[in-house]
Amino acid sequence: MNTSDDSLFESVDLGDETLPNRVGLAPMTRTSATADGRATAEMARYYAKFARGSFSFLITEGTYPDEAYSQGYDDQPGIANDDHVEAWRRVTDAVHDEGAPIFAQLMHAGALSQGNRYTDERLAPSAVRPKGEQLEMYGGSGEFPEPRAATADDIEDVIETFVAAAERAVEANFDGVEVHGANGYLLDQFLTTYTNERDDEYGGDVKNRIRLTAEVLEAVQAATPDEFVVGVRISQSKVNDPDYRWPGGEDDAAVVFETLSDAGADYLHVTEEDVTTPAFESGPTLTELANRYGDAPVIANGALEDPDAARATVAEGADLITLAKGALANPDWPQRVAEDRPLADFDFQRILQPDATIDESEVPEPADADD
Ligand SMILES: Cc1cc2nc3c(=O)[nH]c(=O)nc-3n(C[C@H](O)[C@H](O)[C@H](O)COP(=O)(O)O)c2cc1C
Repeated sequence: MNTSDDSLFESVDLGDETLPNRVGLAPMTRTSATADGRATAEMARYYAKFARGSFSFLITEGTYPDEAYSQGYDDQPGIANDDHVEAWRRVTDAVHDEGAPIFAQLMHAGALSQGNRYTDERLAPSAVRPKGEQLEMYGGSGEFPEPRAATADDIEDVIETFVAAAERAVEANFDGVEVHGANGYLLDQFLTTYTNERDDEYGGDVKNRIRLTAEVLEAVQAATPDEFVVGVRISQSKVNDPDYRWPGGEDDAAVVFETLSDAGADYLHVTEEDVTTPAFESGPTLTELANRYGDAPVIANGALEDPDAARATVAEGADLITLAKGALANPDWPQRVAEDRPLADFDFQRILQPDATIDESEVPEPADADD
């Protein structure tokens, strides 16, 4: 195909960046950092590979912002101290050398934390034990412990924690951050009816339940330079409850996307297991709802590795799309599609079993020996 006729290869402005195509790398936790949360040289090569394969922007795996309650997984990277900043610099340098911007995903695991070197306590909106079981792919097993309900001071600390982490992301030469408001982690626990039993301004109706995510976004925007991109990720489904849907349907979607846009989100990253399906039983997709009610570029994610599904999602209003599993199978997906070369299927067993750590076969030979 001639890429000049292909919507996936149109350039798009995001913040100050002009991206040469619409396809980015979705955030993927690979639990391959050092035990104290430093990104490694292997991770630098892993991320650089996607930029070399023409992904036009990269979002890192969920990265914990503080040395308190936010870490979710053993060997997850952090951006909670100066050593973390130093370690991330080699990742951002390696990716920039390949010409792509990279955003750090800031993730507070809240009640879904299943590995935290700083505390055994879990923080959550309310003392509600999460549904489901810990993820084995990240070394957990059995049910989640019951978390502690956050006090008003804890909530202030959470906001400050995101701000401080975003400031460190600037120092680490990231081009932006993505506030992780999706997939069942802390901010999504506030948005979700059954994990939020609060009766203060952070609980109750959807306006209150989305408040913390909006306050985090607003504070992070205020603390970072204008050209630094501050996006947010939102989903209905969760790692521990894939079938959850916002109980207010489209009315909830309207409040969520309006509020996050008003808070200054530079993009709205919507994700579902299959984002091409209606957000509720029938009707518009989450992409369409984000477009209808939001006022920021929309990034769509979920089951878009078929180029025609990706194009259809762009046609319904996504400015950008991201790939997770499709990118693991095809680290050069945009190049392959541009050149009309066949795509490989995702092999779960090979890549994510027995655990999600980066496999040697996924990473190119070291360019130097600084491991
Ligand atoms: C191994 C793995 C790790 C993931 N880790 C994260 C993460 O850290 N943060 C996040 O927001 N989503 C994470 N996800 C979800 C993906 O970003 C994406 O939403 C999901 O895989 C659906 O997209 P896909 O169909 O392109 O794979 C992860 C997915 C996989 C497969």
